[in-house]
Amino acid sequence: MVATQQVLEAFGQIAQDPDTAPFSNGLNLALEVGYSQSALEGLPEELWRRFCGLSAISEWMPLSGQERVLEVGCGVGLDCHTLAERFPGLQVVGLDGCLQMLQRAPSHPRIEWVQGLATRLPFPSASFEVVFFNGLLNLNSERARILQEMQRVLAPGGHLYGSEIVLTHSGSPPEGTNWYS
Ligand SMILES: C[S@@+](CC[C@H](N)C(=O)[O-])C[C@H]1O[C@@H](n2cnc3c(N)ncnc32)[C@H](O)[C@@H]1O
Repeated sequence: MVATQQVLEAFGQIAQDPDTAPFSNGLNLALEVGYSQSALEGLPEELWRRFCGLSAISEWMPLSGQERVLEVGCGVGLDCHTLAERFPGLQVVGLDGCLQMLQRAPSHPRIEWVQGLATRLPFPSASFEVVFFNGLLNLNSERARILQEMQRVLAPGGHLYGSEIVLTHSGSPPEGTNWYS
């Protein structure tokens, strides 16, 4: 497992040129994981051009629409943006450690973009009713610490949602495995 700094630098490179990523990303990936063409049409291109998530999580998360919501590892923020548009009463914070990703996140009146680390979330305890991630834990070795931080910033009775890669057998995946299949 590589160090967090290396992960963030790699995503900085992907932010600059998504075609250099060693995995599928962007529009093809967004369609593959379940976003509908119609949902993506009309969005700023920036939102899907650098999409690196694992599911269309913002389309299936059950919300009341009044929550304070945090995405940890938001990238350029397709899911934050989709949620803010779906629910006009939502306050959304997108956090990422990679400044180059956040610099490309389109501004939105109800989304705050924050640079920070998943292992040290820069928020007081019980700040959010919903915390979610879409492709984060597999990039980090300090998973327990990240989950503890998510639990800390969740208000009592809050909900945590995530999409993640899970190995279903022991050992390393064979060379050439499609992580997203
Ligand atoms: C696979 S991408 C997913 C991005 C976004 N959720 C999406 O769906 O496009 C993972 C993101 O998490 C960020 N990240 C990875 N580890 C992090 C950490 N420890 N703290 C903060 N951000 C992290 C990366 O910079 C990257 O933008």
